[in-house]
Amino acid sequence: MKYGYFDDNALEYVITTPKTPLPWINYLGNKEFFSLISNTCGGYTFYKDAKLLRLTRYRYNNVPYDNNGKYFYIKDNTDSSVWNPGWQPVKAALDSYECRHGLGYSTFTSSKNDVEAKVLTFVPMEDNCEVSQITITNNKGKDAMISLFSYVEWCLWNADDDMKNFQRNLSTGEVEVTDGGSTLYHKTEYRERRNHYAVYSVNAPVDGFDTSRDAFLGAYNGPDSPDVVADGKCTNSVASGWSPIASHQINLQLKPGESKTFIFVLAYVENPEDDKWEAPSVINKKPAIALLSKYKTEDAVAKALAELKSYWKELLSNYHISSKNEKVDRMVNIWNQYQCMVTFNMSRSASYYESGIGRGMGFRDSCQDLLGFVHLIPDRARQRIIDIASTQFQDGSAYHQYQPLTKKGNSDIGSGFNDDPLWLIAGTSAYVRETGDLSILKEMVPFDNDMSVAKTLMGHLKCSFDFTATHKGPHGLPLIGRADWNDCLNLNCFSEHPGESFQTFGPSEGPVAESVFIAGMFVKYGEEYAQLCELLGDQAEADRARDEIKKVYEAAITAGWDGEWFVRAYDAYSHKVGSKECEEGQIYIEPQGFCVLAGIGVKEGLAEKALKSVEERLDTKYGVMILQPAYTKYHLELGEVSSYPPGYKENAGIFCHNNPWVSIAETVLGHGDRAFEIYKKTCPAYIEDISDVHCTEPYVYSQMVAGRDAKFFGQGKNSWLTGTAAWTFVNISQYILGVYPTHKGLSIDPCVPADFGDFEITRKYRDAVYNISVKQNGAQKGIKKLTVNGKEVSGNVIPYEEGVKEYNVVAEMG
Ligand code: GLC
Ligand code: GLC
Repeated sequence: MKYGYFDDNALEYVITTPKTPLPWINYLGNKEFFSLISNTCGGYTFYKDAKLLRLTRYRYNNVPYDNNGKYFYIKDNTDSSVWNPGWQPVKAALDSYECRHGLGYSTFTSSKNDVEAKVLTFVPMEDNCEVSQITITNNKGKDAMISLFSYVEWCLWNADDDMKNFQRNLSTGEVEVTDGGSTLYHKTEYRERRNHYAVYSVNAPVDGFDTSRDAFLGAYNGPDSPDVVADGKCTNSVASGWSPIASHQINLQLKPGESKTFIFVLAYVENPEDDKWEAPSVINKKPAIALLSKYKTEDAVAKALAELKSYWKELLSNYHISSKNEKVDRMVNIWNQYQCMVTFNMSRSASYYESGIGRGMGFRDSCQDLLGFVHLIPDRARQRIIDIASTQFQDGSAYHQYQPLTKKGNSDIGSGFNDDPLWLIAGTSAYVRETGDLSILKEMVPFDNDMSVAKTLMGHLKCSFDFTATHKGPHGLPLIGRADWNDCLNLNCFSEHPGESFQTFGPSEGPVAESVFIAGMFVKYGEEYAQLCELLGDQAEADRARDEIKKVYEAAITAGWDGEWFVRAYDAYSHKVGSKECEEGQIYIEPQGFCVLAGIGVKEGLAEKALKSVEERLDTKYGVMILQPAYTKYHLELGEVSSYPPGYKENAGIFCHNNPWVSIAETVLGHGDRAFEIYKKTCPAYIEDISDVHCTEPYVYSQMVAGRDAKFFGQGKNSWLTGTAAWTFVNISQYILGVYPTHKGLSIDPCVPADFGDFEITRKYRDAVYNISVKQNGAQKGIKKLTVNGKEVSGNVIPYEEGVKEYNVVAEMG
């Protein structure tokens, strides 16, 4: 069952009922000011940091869910009916409803009793504000008397403190009101510790306002039944403490067929420290007034929206496919790249499943996210790499997380996740292959943000490489530490009491527990490190690296091989994890995918076997499960992985993040049919028809789909902020469609199903445009002829030539 449809021409997903199985959200904002907005107008807004600078309040974990947003109430004064264009919070039955989530904007068009409301909301490219334009149209045959009310509830900035520290917070709220109530300021803590405030303003005179939540709602009421709306009369309340809000009232009389439009702006404003006040206790409003004045007219709004749309159009033109597979085209051209950009902006901070107050930027997560957006925003990717590397320690290990505002590592979680160092090589290599910019490798980058112990970025990569090379266990495999990519495989933890962190309880290192997954990473990213050494002319270091890689490769195909598949790990007692010897958890997806994509066991015939085992033991109609059989008991020596009920999360869920690894591995073996089959199973556009089962948004990936053992098999959870976005894009764009950036130029080597058909790709790469036409000839893999600008070239790589701006490429498979 579907709850909407894709409108590919408009680059939008159209939701046709407010009653989606879960809130289906969108993100507004591209730089520093962001909002989350659901299909019922729920969500919240923050500036730069969802924890420390949150403008509006949201109620996670509440009922009904998706509680609080930026709401408009429409009251029809002829019959006293009240409704919202997004249906919530009043939930009055609507005569029509449509929500369109576009790239950085959303619209809502709804009607009731012959009154129509259309809301457009977005964050302009260059300003720290959200613009909401509402148009109300009278379609009755007679005059309509309408009252329009706006409503936002302020968060007292620190979202964590805001929901805990009531003894203080119920007394700190402060506001100012100007323009007869059209402009409402929120200035809590401005007097003592802040130089910033928020403002909510409308471009018209108002008939009243409220800034006290209690005055607006009335005692014991929720936003579904505000007293003020029922009475049809604002109270002009000026909040002092308690819960400040901003609400405007505008009364309208509309003739038959008449429309009126209002522009509401929610903004964040900072003042210089020495220019905070215009009079004692009166905030300096000059910058706010200047900003608000930019969005007073419909023309100004239309212009700002056009700028936003052209930004996205230009950005997405960096990789564009046209094939006979509509669903592939829409994911590649629109939604998958869009989701990659959202993970760039949000990391894992703010979604409907991440509260915005938890973890900051993950070291491994951010490095992997980079793989999905480096072709879109290489300059910002460059800065991101430097920021991440700056949190590394001198021995190559790294803070697992860092804060986006300070860019400092989080000491509460610390280090000890032994896959982290190698992801830095992955991200850097992707950046250099994309841009050819070797200067980044020579940048001086601090360790733990201490410039006195800086090394070049290349020096950092050497530390990453050496960390793994020098932290090996009894089988010659890399030590796992607190965990590797699988945060829940905690082999050195042994947590027995609630409240302990599975990851940080117990020592950060154990001298025995080893990871075959990190072995796969070492082979793959070790080789990428060696290539970077060669680019810098350091052949000796490249040779040394390859010697080290050889040792780990050997360990992986011996101690790391279980007979039919790769072992997952060795635990602290040196017992195998993910082996036929185990009672539960006999096979894990990660080492199969990663070892094979790294090329391990290909020539020995092990790779074929491993992938066959994946197909036989882990595959389902909704994707490939992370392990089997699911853990039904808590295994103290394995940790959190066995804490989840069977079928959920890392305990036999379908973890979408590593499905592409298996798909990529299949392309390494030339299995186009199978690679694509895996791609389709978790691909949002391909599962749109089962939205009632899948539940999460059909236009973005979720981190996890419940596995076969779960009661709700097929149900998605934790949509949007997941490494799945980057990895599926890498899989489809670089391996299945086969346009892969190498140091020497783009290589063309698709691996597609036999019936995929011919396709064309436009790819911008290092100042040039590549128009690539692939003639499939029914082949799954292999290029028999490659023609570039009319000349045949040998091999798969289009030689990069300085100064050539356009490459017309014909690739014939067969
Ligand atoms: C979550 C984490 C990621 C981890 C994965 C598997 O997605 O953000 O870092 O690799 O879970 O545990
Ligand atoms: C839990 C989750 C895992 C996530 C981690 C982040 O362990 O199961 O997916 O990566 O928390 O800290």
